[in-house]
Amino acid sequence: MKTLISQDPLSTAQAFADFLAQKVSENDMVHIALSGGSTPKILFELLADEYDEDIDWEKLHFWWGDERCVPPTDNDSNYKMTKELLFDAISIKDAQIHRVLGENEPQDEAKRYGEEILKHLPTVNGFPQFDIIMLGMGGDGHTASIFPHEMSLLEDKAICGVAKHPESGQKRVTLNGPVINNAKNICFLVTGEGKTEKVNEIFHQKEDYLSYPAAHFNGQNVVWYLDDSAARML
Ligand code: 6PG
Repeated sequence: MKTLISQDPLSTAQAFADFLAQKVSENDMVHIALSGGSTPKILFELLADEYDEDIDWEKLHFWWGDERCVPPTDNDSNYKMTKELLFDAISIKDAQIHRVLGENEPQDEAKRYGEEILKHLPTVNGFPQFDIIMLGMGGDGHTASIFPHEMSLLEDKAICGVAKHPESGQKRVTLNGPVINNAKNICFLVTGEGKTEKVNEIFHQKEDYLSYPAAHFNGQNVVWYLDDSAARML
């Protein structure tokens, strides 16, 4: 597991964007699963504004590590956020965007999405293999939509599962642990004071750090892109 610490959220996003540009230049096709929430917004705006010439977009297939079970027009939709900040600003075909159909019944959609992933990605070690999976981390140590109260999703061999947000009860479709761990590159993008304590507990293996789902992705394929605030206690 590696760590790249940058000064602020923008330079953290730039560090990841440079990694993405390099991977796209080295490969004919890159399957990337995006994270949602607020952290990636600065990255998507940066990619749209400053990397349009650096990245051959037609080599990329965009997936999601998790999606809220809402329509694509809902403000909670990770797809809607990504479309508005990135896809609408670049030249990309609909066939390259594989959104979770949040408007569908969650269990049916988890099954359908898993089948779509299997159809498009190579199978390695018995699981579909993403080239890159971007992950965020919530203040409770969740990642993708694997929350501390649903740790079984870390081991679930199904490609996707249905999660329930612990506060709102909102249903989510998420990649499960084994598929995430099977990725060639797992890239955490974690910034801000709100994540400092959990980053500290996970990196220093403090207290009950293993009760945080994010702590369970720690192989050689993992890089944490942190800003100074999130990394303050390291
Ligand atoms: C989501 C994300 C989720 C997110 C964390 C961090 O759909 O919300 O995939 O796992 O990465 O909750 O969210 P912030 O970036 O908003 O802190």
